[in-house]
Amino acid sequence: MDPKDLLSIVRDDKITKETKSLISSLPSHEDFQGRKLCKYQGCWYNYNTLQGVLNFQRGFQPQDTDIILASYPKSGTTWLKALTVAILERSKNHSSDHHPLLSHNPHGIVPYFELGLYIESSSPDLAKYSSVPRLFSTHMPLHAMHKTLKDSSCKIVYVCRNMKDTLVSWWFFSCAIYKLERNRSILESLFKSFCNGTFSYGPFWEHLLSYWRGSLEDPKRVLFMRYEEMKAEPHDQIKRLADFLGCPFTKEEEESGCVDEISDLCSLRNLSGLKINKTGKSYNSDNKDYFRKGEVGDSKNYLTPEMENKIDMIIQEKLQGSGLKF
Ligand code: A3P
Repeated sequence: MDPKDLLSIVRDDKITKETKSLISSLPSHEDFQGRKLCKYQGCWYNYNTLQGVLNFQRGFQPQDTDIILASYPKSGTTWLKALTVAILERSKNHSSDHHPLLSHNPHGIVPYFELGLYIESSSPDLAKYSSVPRLFSTHMPLHAMHKTLKDSSCKIVYVCRNMKDTLVSWWFFSCAIYKLERNRSILESLFKSFCNGTFSYGPFWEHLLSYWRGSLEDPKRVLFMRYEEMKAEPHDQIKRLADFLGCPFTKEEEESGCVDEISDLCSLRNLSGLKINKTGKSYNSDNKDYFRKGEVGDSKNYLTPEMENKIDMIIQEKLQGSGLKF
């Protein structure tokens, strides 16, 4: 992506007159840094992102073979992208040093709709993404894509993560990309916004629920994955993902250790150690900032017991009756 476009993600200069007029009619709020958010179709977006969402909704033409990787930010998107690429690429028998994941950050291989392809226009040139299946990604909730995808049988994979670890991951990530000193007052502001739901792509629980319900209604179309399960049983979850994508591992592949090779290739330790991920940039961030600890429950080291209790209560209340539990 052009550096000028990277900047567009944090500035509000790509907004059309029409969108400005729409924004003036929407509920608005400021995030922890004083950046403006507005609520559109039940989801909070910063203005630039909203422009990307509207461009996507207006212009994207799905193909039945498309695969869309979706997530709430900081839930394991980078990992899901890497695993999906590795699963699909395995038939190409790359020599060990020619695999695309060795020379590209996963975000460079799987572009975002609203943060990348559609940020400026509703008719971007997708010629570069013509191989089948096309792989795209998004942080939009499922309902934001409903109309655009309604006549298509493209597949959607969602990865979710518990709210506490997602919040702490956001804290580290936003301090890194905005070059802020990582202090508790930022964590407390983020916590407040997360709990109110007034956070980029929030409310968190509505995001989760949109994909959870979608996966129950149409399990062949929407796969709901959990970061915690991927950590606990990577082998089984990689197989589950491959089955869903329609390219299950053969017995021979399993016996030859193919699943474990993919797991190792996409491990945080391996990816974060690659030159491309130590030095390059994707979207508005250094590639290295997409990789940190990757541990389940790390939030315990940063949140007070009161913060943890509040999040537990919110999640319990908001997910009640949905069948989704943490
Ligand atoms: P932590 O900050 O808890 O370490 P996203 O990719 O959606 O931005 O999510 C980032 C989180 O996923 C970070 O969590 C990051 O360390 C973790 N992550 C990135 N790559 C990973 C991988 N290959 N395996 C497991 N976790 C990974």
